[in-house]
Amino acid sequence: MAATKTATKPDPKSATRAKPKTGSRTSRRTRASAAAQDAIALLKADHREVKTMFEQFDKTEDDAEKATLAQKICTALKVHAQIEEEIFYPAAYEAIDDDDLLDEAEVEHASAKDLIAQIETSQPGEPLFDAKVKVLGEYIDHHVKEEEGELFPECRSSKMDLKTIGALMAARKQELMAAMA
Ligand SMILES: [Fe+2]
Ligand SMILES: [Fe+2]
Repeated sequence: MAATKTATKPDPKSATRAKPKTGSRTSRRTRASAAAQDAIALLKADHREVKTMFEQFDKTEDDAEKATLAQKICTALKVHAQIEEEIFYPAAYEAIDDDDLLDEAEVEHASAKDLIAQIETSQPGEPLFDAKVKVLGEYIDHHVKEEEGELFPECRSSKMDLKTIGALMAARKQELMAAMA
C-alpha cells in the first residue's frame, strides 16, 4: 500500500514544501482591490461614470433611452452624494483646515438633490425635462471641478487614511446600490 514512507513522517514543513507553486491570480486580484480602495480614486471614477451618462443623454433623441439614462444618473448621484456625506466629508472635516470648502460642497449637494427629485418625478417629453437634466449636469460639472481641483488635493496631502475610507465607501456604495435597484 502507498501509506508507508510519507505516513510515518507527519512533518508540516515538508508538506508546505510539497505544495505546488500557484500562478499570479491572487496577487493580481489583491492589486486590483487595493487600487479600488483608495477613496479619491473611487470618487473620481464615479465622477467620470456620471459624466459619460450626461454626455449620452445629451446625444440621444430617444425618450426611452433618456428615461433610462436620467434614472441611472439620479441613482448614481444619490449614492455618490450619500457616501461622500456619510463617510468622506466627515473624515475631511477632521483632517483638513478648510471648512468653507466643505460647507460649499454640502450646499451644492442640496441644490443637486432638489433637481434630482424634480427629474425623478417627471418624464422625457414633459416641459423642462431635458433642461433639468442639462442643468444638473452643469451643477455636477462645477461641483466635480471643485472637489477634484481643490478638495481632493487637500485631502491627499492630509493625514486622511484614504485606503480605509475608500474601503468603507465601496462597501456602503454596494449596499446603497442594492437597496435602490
Ligand atoms: Fe463627488
Ligand atoms: Fe460631492
